[in-house]
Amino acid sequence: MPALPSGTVTFLFSDIEGSPAILRRLGDLSYTRLLSAYRRLVRTVISEGSGIEIDTRGDAFFVVFERARQALASAVALQRAVSTFPWPGETSVRVRVGLHTAEAIATETAYVGLDVHRAARICAAGHGAQILLSQTTYNLINTAAPALGLDLRNLGEHRLKDLQRPERLYQVLHTDLPDVRTPLRSLSVLPNNLPLQMTPFIGRERETADLKQLLTTRRLVTLTGFGGCGKTRLALHVAADVMEEYPDGVWLADLAEVSDPAVVPQVVASALSVREEPGRLLTATLADQLQEKRLLLVLDNCEHVIAACAPLVQSLLAGAPHLRILATSRESLDVPGETIWRVPTLTLPDLQARSASDLLQNEAVRLFAERAVAVQPAFAMNDRTAAVVSQICRRLEGIPLAIELAAAQVRVLTLTEVAARLEDGLRMLPARRRTAPRHQTLQAVMEWSYAQLTEAERTLLRRLSVFTGSFTLQAAEVICAGDGVAPAAVLELLGRLVDKSLVLVDQQTGESRFHLLETVRRYSGEKLRENGEAHAVRRRHADWYLALVRQAEPMLQVSQEWLDRLEADHPNLRGVMDWYRQTEGYEQALTLSTALLRFWLVRGLWAEGRRWLEDALRGAPDAPPALRAKALRAAAAIAQYQADYDH
Ligand SMILES: Nc1ncnc2c1ncn2[C@@H]1O[C@H](COP(=O)(O)OP(=O)(O)O)[C@@H](O)[C@H]1O
Ligand SMILES: [Mg+2]
Repeated sequence: MPALPSGTVTFLFSDIEGSPAILRRLGDLSYTRLLSAYRRLVRTVISEGSGIEIDTRGDAFFVVFERARQALASAVALQRAVSTFPWPGETSVRVRVGLHTAEAIATETAYVGLDVHRAARICAAGHGAQILLSQTTYNLINTAAPALGLDLRNLGEHRLKDLQRPERLYQVLHTDLPDVRTPLRSLSVLPNNLPLQMTPFIGRERETADLKQLLTTRRLVTLTGFGGCGKTRLALHVAADVMEEYPDGVWLADLAEVSDPAVVPQVVASALSVREEPGRLLTATLADQLQEKRLLLVLDNCEHVIAACAPLVQSLLAGAPHLRILATSRESLDVPGETIWRVPTLTLPDLQARSASDLLQNEAVRLFAERAVAVQPAFAMNDRTAAVVSQICRRLEGIPLAIELAAAQVRVLTLTEVAARLEDGLRMLPARRRTAPRHQTLQAVMEWSYAQLTEAERTLLRRLSVFTGSFTLQAAEVICAGDGVAPAAVLELLGRLVDKSLVLVDQQTGESRFHLLETVRRYSGEKLRENGEAHAVRRRHADWYLALVRQAEPMLQVSQEWLDRLEADHPNLRGVMDWYRQTEGYEQALTLSTALLRFWLVRGLWAEGRRWLEDALRGAPDAPPALRAKALRAAAAIAQYQADYDH
């Protein structure tokens, strides 16, 4: 293969629309003939356009061009050639093509990085006979289009199935191409609340196919495995992939955010935008509203609230015949009809594989390479580095989180240094190492990456564990500073934890919000307790949110923005409430839950609000009468909404 072009290149992805159906109709033999004719055709067009074929699987081509213009001309030539070719048996073959231009991150034999995945997803969003362009490709060829006899139609922004930032797409119009106007196969047109992902999803093709298949016949599938093995990521990927089959949408409820089992139905209801109704239990309303719906509910992190989760799942499935549930949990839910599916670790390279291109076929190696390139653009995969990466991945037993943590170190260390330090770190594993369960390996890797941090980074990471769900910089600056961490240093330290894959950042909503993966949060929470700091930091956490809510209270009548803000911090507020319960801070709990009245009412969180108020009222019989009176009025207001006049 000639050396791959680097710098700004254009990726072309193409495949045949509905190829499985064609295969079924033609049978193996004729399909194979059709496929080889198709491949010859594509290859002729590509080489005439100076494209370089990178990868071909079945009818799917991945090609790179040095110039966007060549890529576009080849795409049009390909569509023209396919539409005029005399296909055997008069089969109608229609291909979709997606183009995306980016600064390429090339190894010697392949490309890695977000943009390759992006290009593939752009192709997948299209229909047969369509050519779709990303914004960057459009920018480059926009002015040249008339000369090529082309028009470009702006299709607006679309969320692609990679769950990453939305992309504006353009359709190429040409007199030789049919004008396909079917809406794109993107997530934007389908109802869902799946969160954006900041990194590309790697591999797992077989697992994805298996799970998609399972979901056609099973109504409850639980992905199990230890923390960090990739349950959540796989569940979200599968959910995004099957979205078209669920007209009423695909909805994620993350139960990591709750510690109070009584709140589980509330979290599920919020995810599904189901509001409480007067005079009914929320679970009844939920069952009712879901009854006719064809939807997929993703229940993430069930393990710590299984006792509440299991009966809810059971009653929802019983009441809603078309409902499907994909759960993730360290343990099974133990509900009749549940299918338990263990998430395997990523495939490991076999010992014979030597060349970078062979090794890059492997999931674990690819995950490492993608993450390493993301933190260190100078990182190169060649035969020498690939061998070290492969050794590291084997040592990490293909555990995704462990691989991410190790790859993040490439930012400052060389690959050999990472390997050597890791070796030192893992030597601490118990002597019966060979039989040590994988979660022990992950535990050791977390210890290791924790040990690589500076004292201040460690302190901050420990303290961040007090947040439930996500948090803002401002909150972290106040709650986590002090004793060894200056408030002004928090931003910088947080940035370094992000670089090390220990903290994640989401900037979709204007304000940056940070969060920890559940596994990392638990780990650093333990460290915080060991350190004897838990009480003080949780108290600061509680104080800060109580102050926030008091500040919000007068605004809640008029400000949607404040309501949204509280909703984003709802998991933290729940954490604060739990803490007040544990420490018998009932007077503060009373103030907190009373100040939230408007939030409870408007956002339809009646049962939860009332429980908070009643708990606090019971716990604080001696609170100032004015406060108790206000709380009683608040509870009564909610009761009225609930049409509950009996208490
Ligand atoms: N197939 C994959 N491709 C890319 N990243 C992955 C993949 N599987 C897991 N990861 C990453 O590994 C980390 C742990 O995965 P996660 O799904 O959170 O594990 P779990 O839910 O089992 O605790 C996350 O940062 C996730 O993004
Ligand atoms: Mg998870």
